[in-house]
Amino acid sequence: MIAWLKRRHGPLTIIDRDLAADPVPHIDGAMARASLMPAADRGPAEHAALALSETLIDELEGADVVLISTPMHNFTVPSVLKAWIDHVVRPNRTFRSTPAGKIGLLADRPVLAVVSCGGPFHDGPGSQRDMMTPYLQYVFGSVGITQVEVVRMENMARGADFVARGFERLDAWTGSLAIRAA
Ligand SMILES: Cc1cc2nc3c(=O)[nH]c(=O)nc-3n(C[C@H](O)[C@H](O)[C@H](O)COP(=O)(O)O)c2cc1C
Repeated sequence: MIAWLKRRHGPLTIIDRDLAADPVPHIDGAMARASLMPAADRGPAEHAALALSETLIDELEGADVVLISTPMHNFTVPSVLKAWIDHVVRPNRTFRSTPAGKIGLLADRPVLAVVSCGGPFHDGPGSQRDMMTPYLQYVFGSVGITQVEVVRMENMARGADFVARGFERLDAWTGSLAIRAA
């Protein structure tokens, strides 16, 4: 995917957040309280509690394209990706709550998510429900990002043939992105 983006767009500045090697912590009470406070009332402790969230939001705001490469865990996002989401989906920073629901405050941009899954999703034995694709689309939508494209690489725990098929699917998906973006 990164090679494809480089071929298409030339030199890129890549911010690589490897959440497996360097997990972001779950949010805690101090962060949640600080996030709900009016910005003008925050002191040093609240700014410290929001520092990581600010860094992650700055990275997201600065990105022309967001590429997420992740396994599926229990039908949805792994908990460390959920922790990242909890830092970036923040009231009065990336969305505003209104009686009509959340209004996203970020500029729209493409989010490309490559999701590796151990099992299948087509009809048949062992087929599962995918909560992850609609969740990613919904949660990014809540901050104003609607261009969320997800490809599932299925059956990745079922041997080399399936892995090869998963990569074929990824290539076809990447090709379709190139056509759409052209
Ligand atoms: C805790 C855990 C939960 C998992 N849940 C699912 C699941 O719900 N559906 C699925 O298809 N695969 C599931 N898997 C399998 C992983 O998605 C699969 O092993 C993944 O594609 C491997 O990617 P990786 O080699 O990049 O880790 C799960 C794996 C783990 C460790």
